[in-house]
Amino acid sequence: MLFKQQALLRQKLFVLGSLAIGSLLYLVARVGSLNRLQPICPIESRLGPPHLPEQIPLRTLQYKRGLLHELRKGNATKEQIRLHNLVQQLPRAIIIGVRKGGTRALLEMLNLHPAVVKASQEIHFFDNDQNYARGIDWYREKMPFSFPHQITIEKSPAYFITEEVPERIFKMNSSIKLLIIVREPTTRAVSDYTQVLEGKERKNKTYHKFEKLAIDGNTCEVNTKYKAVRTSIYTKHLERWLKYFPVEQFHIVDGDRLITDPLPELQLVERFLKLPSRISQYNLYFNATRGFYCLRFNIVFNKCLAGSKGRIHPEVDPSVVAKLRSFFHPFNQKFYQITGRTFNWP
Ligand code: A3P
Repeated sequence: MLFKQQALLRQKLFVLGSLAIGSLLYLVARVGSLNRLQPICPIESRLGPPHLPEQIPLRTLQYKRGLLHELRKGNATKEQIRLHNLVQQLPRAIIIGVRKGGTRALLEMLNLHPAVVKASQEIHFFDNDQNYARGIDWYREKMPFSFPHQITIEKSPAYFITEEVPERIFKMNSSIKLLIIVREPTTRAVSDYTQVLEGKERKNKTYHKFEKLAIDGNTCEVNTKYKAVRTSIYTKHLERWLKYFPVEQFHIVDGDRLITDPLPELQLVERFLKLPSRISQYNLYFNATRGFYCLRFNIVFNKCLAGSKGRIHPEVDPSVVAKLRSFFHPFNQKFYQITGRTFNWP
């Protein structure tokens, strides 16, 4: 009997001891990660150089993740909206393209910044006549709730190539900041083709090979009527935009580098948007299974982009690749010249 009681006591002591050690380890780990998340320095010095036009209030940073996330799920009460002074703001920056350049990755990564709030869906306000006819209030209502000091960013890649869009955006806000993310034009065209091909296959439809679409069968020249080719002639589209906006209002993001080394690209965007540098290496981690960088918001919330981002491209005949590359070459040179950003595209 006595032996049984002693064994029971030993067992209880063991459980209590394990709990105490476990809690201690958890606390040590948490303090460690918090230190990484919140450098021990006054908030002012973490908000970047003093010449910044706007100081981001601390409460914005504190509330953003929790509260705005809740509100995004549609749980906002009118009282909460009033209490926290939340607003639906028109975007102060738009990712206007380019389709398959990495527009989703760019938006999601910028959304890591506490002063940025993303419109989750592509709104297609300026490129779709029916939506545009619904008016600016309809567009504003599509925007997420944010604090007044935050900036809302929208992305609709069709804007870049749609004729009417520059004028329409100019009418909304002539000083808006415009982000364009580009990839090596031939790779982008193949990525574009791959997306369409996947859609066809999903519907059990057959589709032409890329080579057949990209090269005109009669002339053996590049088929400039093929949309995936036309979209990659970046300079042609940009020139239409430049009739409305000065080149300083655009920032070109290197979509190829956003894949391999995203942080420097994001830091350039932060600077362009006049935001204090807040996205860090901690927020981005390489996921070997996905083969891409994924996002880390905090110790509990990580996410990778959907599987539809980062498809395997079909093999393309090297002679077609070479033909396309030499076709794009002069347009690329012009693009570098206009934007002041040079890429190592072949
Ligand atoms: P691929 O599918 O050709 O690889 P968009 O969002 O404009 O449609 O662009 C999709 C492209 O984003 C993908 O093209 C992928 O390469 C690129 N991308 C960039 N960063 C990524 C990331 N972190 N995760 C997934 N895809 C990313």
